[in-house]
Amino acid sequence: MRLSRYFLPVLKENPAEAQIVSHRLMLRAGMIKQQAAGIYSWLPLGFKVLKRIEQIVHEEQIRAGHIPLLMPTLQPADLWRESGRYDDYGQEMLRIKDRHEREMLYGPTNEEMITDIFRAHVSSYKDLPLTLYHIQWKFRDEVRPRFGVMRGREFYMKDGYNFDLTREDALHAYNRHMVSYLRTYERMGLTAIPMRAASGPIGGDNTHEFLVLAQTGESEVFYDAQVPDLKLGDRAVDYDDRDQVAAICQEFTTLYARTDETHDEAVFNQIPEARRCVGRGIEVGQIFYFGTKYSEAMGATVVTPDGTRVPVEMGSHGIGVSRLLGALIEANHDERGIIWPEGVTPFHVGIVNLKQGDGATDAACAGIYKALVAKGLDPLYDDRDERAGAKFATMDLIGLPWRITVGPRGLAGGVVELTSRRTGESEEMSAEAAVDRIAQIYAAHR
Ligand SMILES: Nc1ncnc2c1ncn2[C@@H]1O[C@H](COP(=O)(O)OP(=O)(O)O)[C@@H](O)[C@H]1O
Ligand SMILES: [Mg+2]
Repeated sequence: MRLSRYFLPVLKENPAEAQIVSHRLMLRAGMIKQQAAGIYSWLPLGFKVLKRIEQIVHEEQIRAGHIPLLMPTLQPADLWRESGRYDDYGQEMLRIKDRHEREMLYGPTNEEMITDIFRAHVSSYKDLPLTLYHIQWKFRDEVRPRFGVMRGREFYMKDGYNFDLTREDALHAYNRHMVSYLRTYERMGLTAIPMRAASGPIGGDNTHEFLVLAQTGESEVFYDAQVPDLKLGDRAVDYDDRDQVAAICQEFTTLYARTDETHDEAVFNQIPEARRCVGRGIEVGQIFYFGTKYSEAMGATVVTPDGTRVPVEMGSHGIGVSRLLGALIEANHDERGIIWPEGVTPFHVGIVNLKQGDGATDAACAGIYKALVAKGLDPLYDDRDERAGAKFATMDLIGLPWRITVGPRGLAGGVVELTSRRTGESEEMSAEAAVDRIAQIYAAHR
């Protein structure tokens, strides 16, 4: 993409309505535009990151054996009457009537609808285990939408639902989700800590939230200082290996890590004092095991091997896809702007032309651009007729992790400059070497 042809409406001034840095930077970098309280348009740069995050979520769900489908945003009220949640959900649910006065709602979550799909098509234990998921817009009429995409009213969420014959099978599905979520967040360059949580309106007693540590988080968190160092890394995971998956969950949930809702001072105080951490966190996902709560209420049963009928065992598992943009920026920025981790960056590398209109410089930039594209990379070329300072400021604001700077003086010596956004360090090298280096860096993120 050439910046002169792109749509990147950056703001010079800090928007007054933004209270936290991620919201401020998303507005300034031209990623989103508010259309109503808690409702946003995703401008091209924001949309690109949203899609990158969505892609990682899909890849890791499919790797874990989960199956994508797509359910609608609008749902009939009657489904929710079956589970009893139509009344329970209260004012957070946006209720709508169609032209025939039929009661509808904009889905805040999909337990009822997925259970309806299941009961229509599955009736035997032979079709289990089954985990279906989708990534779809949700609407919750939050009392206080705030912090941009972090607490919106309309937001994008991955929600998955497991169907199993036995409690043991369902607990394996729970563990599988925990491990797949750990991988998902790590690929984005995020540390999200599974913390024991309270279940809220979903129901059930087994649940963990995943929290990204950040000053601006809405939850107070209490954890052992050793927990944020736990990493899955590139170890091979066999999602069918129950023992391996359970052992990983054990590894990540044995040390103390809880939100204010489940915090237990007495247990916390058993940790050596130097390791007791209190902070704040952003909830970027949650997993639930709730057994037969919905299957019993809605008649989702399967025939067992001995011929009896039992309600299916279920759980549901969510990732806040749109909220992750905010969480990623809270965790990766400096005073000049965003610093995208390589796994989610909207463009892999920026090319800055220091002397637009100079034949040799323009040609060198065009050559680098072509070479990057040939390697399957996605560069953003700042070909505007602007001062170098303005070009650097834009690149720093939008946070591409790497920048190749091309100017007549360097070219005379056969070099361009490769700069890391994170460290600020620059290195001179030939254009070919810079392209190869970028390709190498991203090979690790495929
Ligand atoms: N209003 C919101 N705006 C953006 N993301 C949200 C919002 N509500 C929930 N999410 C995201 O969706 C994930 C799953 O939702 P859920 O656990 O059902 O929400 P909650 O904990 O708010 O009841 C949450 O972990 C969070 O990341
Ligand atoms: Mg939650």
